[in-house]
Amino acid sequence: MFGLKDKVIVVTGGNRGIGRAVVERLEKLDAKVAYINLDGEGSTSSFQVKADVTSYIQMEVAFKKIEAELGSIYGVVCNAGITRDGFYHKTTSDQWSEVIDVNLNGAYNSTRPIIENLYIRKEGSIVFVSSIVGENGNIGQVNYAASKAGLIGLSKSLAKEGARNNVRSNVIAPGFTETSMTETLPEKVAEKIYNAIPLGRFAKPEEIAWSVVYLLSPVMSSFITGEVIRVNGGHLM
Ligand SMILES: NC(=O)c1ccc[n+]([C@@H]2O[C@H](COP(=O)([O-])OP(=O)(O)OC[C@H]3O[C@@H](n4cnc5c(N)ncnc54)[C@H](O)[C@@H]3O)[C@@H](O)[C@H]2O)c1
Repeated sequence: MFGLKDKVIVVTGGNRGIGRAVVERLEKLDAKVAYINLDGEGSTSSFQVKADVTSYIQMEVAFKKIEAELGSIYGVVCNAGITRDGFYHKTTSDQWSEVIDVNLNGAYNSTRPIIENLYIRKEGSIVFVSSIVGENGNIGQVNYAASKAGLIGLSKSLAKEGARNNVRSNVIAPGFTETSMTETLPEKVAEKIYNAIPLGRFAKPEEIAWSVVYLLSPVMSSFITGEVIRVNGGHLM
């Protein structure tokens, strides 16, 4: 139904949270899945490569390993991300750079080494995992919001360039989701956020995964490119 059977798809940050839910959903749809992360184990049914998305060279090597093991890559999900929160007037240049390096430069390193292969094959789908914060901004997350807004510009431009080669590029902008990224939120802050979400709760990682898989699918979303899909329970921030 999704047309993803035997398609080779790479997910960055696929060992836990949203990335892991994407990996597991793709496995159920019989895709050939590889995931790239720094540490920790994820699904044992998929091909795991340890690499740091902040390193162009490591990512180049990772893509070569994946193509040698699984075949030609069709899709990439740029999901790896971090936060280093704090008020802007207290943000150090290290906190700024770390977030931009993983979230935005990491997305470049996760697509640039493989994009020409997709163009040559005239087929591909790239999905960037941005955030509700990338569209709306958030107190204490200036660095994170800047990195996630950057992904939207990257994706919309790549969509325009890739279209002539049938390579689509889209963004998922999740709202607050139950993962290790949000589990440290103080109860009071979490409660305030729940109250602002019409559906009254955080997303489950699986709910974000469905939308990622939809954008990867050459059947379901073949005419969608340059788009941002919000999956946030109606949260308008
Ligand atoms: N959880 C939320 O509320 C939420 C909301 C909106 C967007 N997002 C975004 O969704 C994505 C996944 O977040 P999550 O909540 O599952 O977080 P998570 O912390 O559970 O997972 C992050 C993943 O990124 C990987 N990673 C981090 N730095 C890396 C690096 N340098 N190289 C390779 N891999 C690296 C980790 O290994 C891990 O697999 C992130 O981009 C995040 O910004 C999360």
